[in-house]
Order: sequence, then structure tokens, then C-alpha cells
Amino acid sequence: MTTATQFELYDILKTYEDNYQNGPFFDAKMPVRPAVTQTHKVFDFEVNSRLGVPAGPLLNSHWCDVYAQLGFDIPVYKTVRSVERNCHPAPNCVFLDSDKQFNNTDINTVIQPGLRPSQDERITITNSFGVPSLAPSVWMKDIEEGNRKMAKNQLMIVSVNGTPGLAERDLIEDYGYVSAMAKEAGSKVIEVNYSCPNLGGSKEGALFSDPENSALVSKKIRESIGDTPLLIKLGWMPAEQLEKVIEANRPYVDGFAAINTIPRQVVTPNGEAALPGEGRLSSGTCGFAIGDLAEEVTQNLIDLRTKWKDDFVICSVGGMMNAEDLHRRLDMGADLVMSATAAMWDPYLAQKYHEYK
Ligand SMILES: Cc1cc2nc3c(=O)[nH]c(=O)nc-3n(C[C@H](O)[C@H](O)[C@H](O)COP(=O)(O)O)c2cc1C
Repeated sequence: MTTATQFELYDILKTYEDNYQNGPFFDAKMPVRPAVTQTHKVFDFEVNSRLGVPAGPLLNSHWCDVYAQLGFDIPVYKTVRSVERNCHPAPNCVFLDSDKQFNNTDINTVIQPGLRPSQDERITITNSFGVPSLAPSVWMKDIEEGNRKMAKNQLMIVSVNGTPGLAERDLIEDYGYVSAMAKEAGSKVIEVNYSCPNLGGSKEGALFSDPENSALVSKKIRESIGDTPLLIKLGWMPAEQLEKVIEANRPYVDGFAAINTIPRQVVTPNGEAALPGEGRLSSGTCGFAIGDLAEEVTQNLIDLRTKWKDDFVICSVGGMMNAEDLHRRLDMGADLVMSATAAMWDPYLAQKYHEYK
């Protein structure tokens, strides 16, 4: 078979477990990428390109492998925890009715579900998984496997999240603990998620906008992982607040990945929450409509780096739906670019990025 029969590598009509076991749903030949004429340095690693898939759609080492073969040279292994945690019930992703960009006054407001737009580059979805995790014994082995599967000059990053309310450790300690586990499993770069909107507004979901507490956590993680490169994942926030957060965290981290999803209340026309279950009225939205907000944060990070003559890594994420969008963020000054939503529907996005002139 030479052409894909299904452009839905993560099938949103299936459960998370089905996608984990049987995805990605892609049965065409792998594209033949143009020869790599120039590699790039990311931390101390050479990479074939600065393109990745951010934490989320790549559920395990097999997913990272398939996307790496599709040309995404920096796959991020979906966020894991120090304890096993179930996924929120399906559906976990729903198309949204939005043909325009969100701005900051849209955050946390109501939006309706919609149909899949006729152009995939216009897809906006909400996603709500609740940061599920298999037991560490499973994901630690799988990370070793993922590293083995990467081709030359490809780099798998591992995303982790702290878990509150554990009898064994408090939240700060757990961030350190799970990061150390990821390091022990062989993670070459660790990304810590400070910004999940799908945790019912809990502490670990909102750390990103709290300069003091996020820095306390980053310090703890740094002590736990030594010199392993560390990225922290942030959500959208105003420039002044971003400055405080970056200033407080930069002594401990090597870079910033932004943005995570934008929280909205997804409500059907008859007033019901679109996603079933408690605490899911508000969920994280991503894809086309968050592009402007993401680009704003990338620009603000670049401005801070210039102002302070710093050299932290900027991983731009959010709303890049085609090769042109990805290259534009690199041209702005981002070091890495990653697409989640577009990569879920377009297996050839990386190929288009590599062929882009
Ligand atoms: C299906 C899905 C699952 C996600 N899960 C996570 C996650 O586990 N951890 C995380 O840090 N971000 C997660 N995200 C957020 C993405 O990493 C990214 O920040 C966001 O989707 C914006 O990028 P996009 O507009 O290209 O989708 C997820 C996104 C999607 C679409």
C-alpha cells in the first residue's frame, strides 16, 4: 500500500487504551525524506532537524518510533507519573467550533463542540486525559526501548508530572522522584509538565504561573537529576507574569516548552458539558485556534532571552498546523518546534517540513 487510507493516527473515536495498544493507525509506506545536509545541536545532542511532537499524542515507545520514522526527529514520550493513574473516560478529544484565533479574553470561557473542518489545517480540538500513567515498572522499561528505536541523530524526550496527595511523598518531592525515575530509565532530556488544564484546576496543573512554587519544584528536580537537560512546560500567561516565572526558574532549568493547551469550557448547545464526568467542564484546547496565543509566548520568551543575554532553549509549541507555520516560528528565533494536533491527522507533516523551501 503506498497511500495512507486513514489520516487519523490517533483515532479520537477510540479509547485511550485502544490507541495505546493498537495505534498509531497508519498503514501506508513511510515517506523517503530528503538527505540530511545539516544537523543541529540541541543541548549536547546532534539532531537531524529541530522538529518534534510535544508531550501527548505519542503514548509509548512504539508511537515515538513511528513518528520518528515519519521524520519527527524529537518525539516527546507522553507524560508519565510515579504512580499508576487511569485515563479520564472517552471521549478524550472533541472537535471544536472555531474558525478564528482565540485571544486572551477567550481563556476559560464557553465554546461549543463542532464538526471536523473541511481543511485539516483548521482543526481545533479539546483534549482531556487527566495525565494517565502506567506503572513506573512498565514505562521505565518502555523508555529504554524507545531510546533503542531512535535512528541516528534522533532524540526522544520524556515528559513527567508530579502527583499530589500521595502518602509516600509530598508534591515537590514527587516531582523530584519521578524525574529521577525518568533519568534512571535512560531519558536523555526530561520535560516537566507544570501546566495541565485537565487536572480540575489542581495545584500540579497550575504551577506554571506561580514563580516561587514552580522554582522550588525546579530546584528539587535539578537536585534529583544532576546535569540531565531539563525543560519545563508552561501555559499561556501575560508577558509580565512570564518574566517573573522565567526569572525564578532559569537558574535550575535548561529551557522552556510553551505553550500547553488553553483552558475553555466545552458545552453543547443544550447546555451540557461535552466531556463526561466530574471536573471535566473545563478542558485544554489546542490546534489551529491557539496559534496566535502560542506565537505571542514564543516571542515573549525570545525577548526575555535577548534582554538577559541568556541561552536557554525555547521549544515553541501550539497551533502550528503546516510546514510554513513551523518554519515561521524557527525564523522568529525558537530553537525547537513541535506540533501535536496537526501531527495527529497529517502523517506527512514532517515530510512537508523537510521539503519546505
Ligand atoms: C492528545 C493530546 C494529549 C496531550 N497530552 C499532554 C500531556 O500528557 N502532557 C503535556 O505536557 N501536554 C499534553 N498535550 C499538550 C501538547 O503538548 C501541546 O502543548 C498542545 O496540544 C498545543 O500544541 P498543538 O496546538 O500543536 O496541539 C496534549 C495534547 C494533545 C493534542
